[in-house]
Amino acid sequence: MMSCFSFIYINQDISLYNKNLHNICCIHSIRAIVPHMTNNQNSTLSIQSKINIRDYASRIIPLDELPKWSKWPRRLLQLDEWNIPRRTVEKNDSEYDKDKYLSYLNFAKKNGITNADEIRSHEFGLSTFESTVVSQKGILFELPANQIMPANNSVLLDSLSPYIDEADIVIELGCGYGHNLWVMQNQYPNKRYIGGDYSRNAVELSKLIYAKHSNINVEQFNFYDDTYNMLEKCSFGKKVLVFTRHAIEQLPTATQVFNTLSKYFDRIIAGVHIEVGFDNYDNSLLDLMRKKYVIANDYNRDLISVIKQQPGIEMLRNDSDELGINPLNPSSIVTWRPNIS
Ligand SMILES: C[S@@+](CC[C@H](N)C(=O)[O-])C[C@H]1O[C@@H](n2cnc3c(N)ncnc32)[C@H](O)[C@@H]1O
Repeated sequence: MMSCFSFIYINQDISLYNKNLHNICCIHSIRAIVPHMTNNQNSTLSIQSKINIRDYASRIIPLDELPKWSKWPRRLLQLDEWNIPRRTVEKNDSEYDKDKYLSYLNFAKKNGITNADEIRSHEFGLSTFESTVVSQKGILFELPANQIMPANNSVLLDSLSPYIDEADIVIELGCGYGHNLWVMQNQYPNKRYIGGDYSRNAVELSKLIYAKHSNINVEQFNFYDDTYNMLEKCSFGKKVLVFTRHAIEQLPTATQVFNTLSKYFDRIIAGVHIEVGFDNYDNSLLDLMRKKYVIANDYNRDLISVIKQQPGIEMLRNDSDELGINPLNPSSIVTWRPNIS
């Protein structure tokens, strides 16, 4: 069961969406990002994404075509069998540490790979297909394989860049082997980057690939803990930008994460979540399938409501479906900052 339904990234089997299982990809460099920031009437900071997936895509795909790319519509309609997992720490440990990250670690060791982009390319299976289906704002696009990393990296940079000047330290919670930190440090090398992940194999892999990059460090961490060591040890006066990417997704509720994060609001300048935004879905057919996808994977359902109800912070941004590398599990971008009044 696990292997045929194993997910490559953001808990999707990207190969389920891919066409033409050949052709080698080439990874393009990251496009320059200039986020656009405006103050709206409520004096809340509103940031408009500059990332237009049409710039990367070859064509628009009608929704009717989705089942040709993905096994998920049939599963969600219960035409094919699917057993809903319970997303416990043990489930995530077996899916990530004992399966994916162990295999990436072995791949890196066997092939002497020390470059994070090569591991990401392997993770995405980019050499095994020509194109895939992605989404933005409810529209499906065909994206050539060699555009996946540029588009994915651009969304990351667009989300974090507005806060980077103010930050001394950038922390990613649930970072895997830290590829997002790698992308950030390539663009902003003069910051300190710290990542935490439950998977010890991901931590070991990070030691291999960032051995020559002393400003990136990944350590073992558990979202469910009452304190977060990475934030504990940020010395007084340091300004921390905290982010997550499809990692809180792995927790059916975000309540504990914010209980713990609230202990560090004195040092956090902003929080950015590139995550599933269940509350952002409406009643369109695509969004109804997305809700069912979240339920079928026991993913997070309350991140946005937890942030809205959390005392001591204000929400700065909440944009749905900024990019769906898996169009049934797209990224919302949700941003907040502590309310220091
Ligand atoms: C879909 S991956 C995303 C990884 C990374 N953010 C990225 O964008 O590549 C989800 C990550 O959440 C981590 N994770 C799941 N449960 C966790 C927990 N309780 N504490 C810390 N990390 C956890 C997994 O090990 C995995 O690395």
